[in-house]
Amino acid sequence: MSDRIAHLHAREILDSRGNPTIEVDLTLSNGVLGRAAVPSGASTGAYEAIELRDGDGLRYGGKGVLGAVSAVTGEIATAIIGASVRDQRALDSTLIALDGTPAKGRLGANALLGVSLAAAHARAALHGHELWYELGGDAAVKLPVPLLNILNGGKHAEHSTDFQEFMVVPVGATTYRDALRAGAEVFAALRTCLQDRGLATGQGDEGGFAPSLPTNEAALDLLMVAIEAAGYRPGDEVAIAIDAAATELLQSDGRYHLEREGRTLERGALVDLWATWASKYPIISIEDGLAEDDWSGWEELTARIGGKVQIVGDDLLVTSVHRIERAIDAGAANALLVKPNQIGTLTETLDAISLAHGAGWASILSHRSGETEDTTIADLAVATNAGQIKTGAPSRSERVAKLNRLLRIEEQLGSRAIYAGRAAFSQVTHA
Ligand code: PGA
Ligand code: ZN
Repeated sequence: MSDRIAHLHAREILDSRGNPTIEVDLTLSNGVLGRAAVPSGASTGAYEAIELRDGDGLRYGGKGVLGAVSAVTGEIATAIIGASVRDQRALDSTLIALDGTPAKGRLGANALLGVSLAAAHARAALHGHELWYELGGDAAVKLPVPLLNILNGGKHAEHSTDFQEFMVVPVGATTYRDALRAGAEVFAALRTCLQDRGLATGQGDEGGFAPSLPTNEAALDLLMVAIEAAGYRPGDEVAIAIDAAATELLQSDGRYHLEREGRTLERGALVDLWATWASKYPIISIEDGLAEDDWSGWEELTARIGGKVQIVGDDLLVTSVHRIERAIDAGAANALLVKPNQIGTLTETLDAISLAHGAGWASILSHRSGETEDTTIADLAVATNAGQIKTGAPSRSERVAKLNRLLRIEEQLGSRAIYAGRAAFSQVTHA
């Protein structure tokens, strides 16, 4: 009976922005502990599961999570103490039913996810397994390509670019370790390159630099210079990825506002911009190139350049099988951004990934802009053979913790480890 949940504890901890978030400790009857902390977004999609916050202006500006903590130690504990952690799906179904609302707003998706992930950690510990092995078994062998967000803008860095993330993607490496090194070297070269130009080297929420640039395209030019300065061939060895987070740029008239450039684009003009950039720069992936409800724009973009560029849905899909199914049917994307806290349980997260993979899509495990030292997404990336992970710049410990965790997993896999490399983009590169 050692697989039974004996105790649930939760606490309010801080995330990387200094905001409170929830951490859950789940203890089994034999004393084995599973712990998980939940991250938090800033450019949050409207269709995400609900993150329960107290709204008490006297604590943390209303951002406290004592309500979510009480949900774990009260109602959730009452429902699952004595339950086994062996069947994750059954446990997650109990949590979903207990909340009883479509967006998990009653108990909070943050409370539910903390418990769901803590249970998985406890099960792994009970079996004496690493989490990636507990969830993926012998089939889990792929180290993901890191999409490293080395230039931050949008909601993650005031006064920088309108588009949220400019990432480097070391597709040409043969091991994860070498890929990470390439990313870190390009990051270092970018710092020098900014210093040489008298640009600021302050960092945004995800650890990337946040210089004030005249245009959004200037960020791409800087990335190209940095990649070459670090001694890598752009495209071949290190490609570029963008997360526009375009929902944040949408005006009420359906057009997209680029504040930096003092111009506003119709949907078609924004699609044109992506197509132009994709032909001019070695761009391998574009995330949220259009807003979360602009389904026709997504279809247009995917039809236009989806044959050679990965079109990633984040706010569009919110890790929800319903929205992913719709996008698969409509041909509105060809890759899934996976954020466990957008949906609220591990089982639903894994179902979303399976659905995407079944449709021939790629998947990218993702952090949030507000992160903790929790490294669960690194294990999930390996467990599911996702092939890609997005966890910020190789800077700031809450980002680097995930990148370093992957170095350890690569070691654990030894000669069985496969670095996903360009093949992780096979839906567009046919590698
Ligand atoms: P968020 O940003 O965590 O602030 O939502 C990450 C992303 O948009 O991918
Ligand atoms: Zn995004």
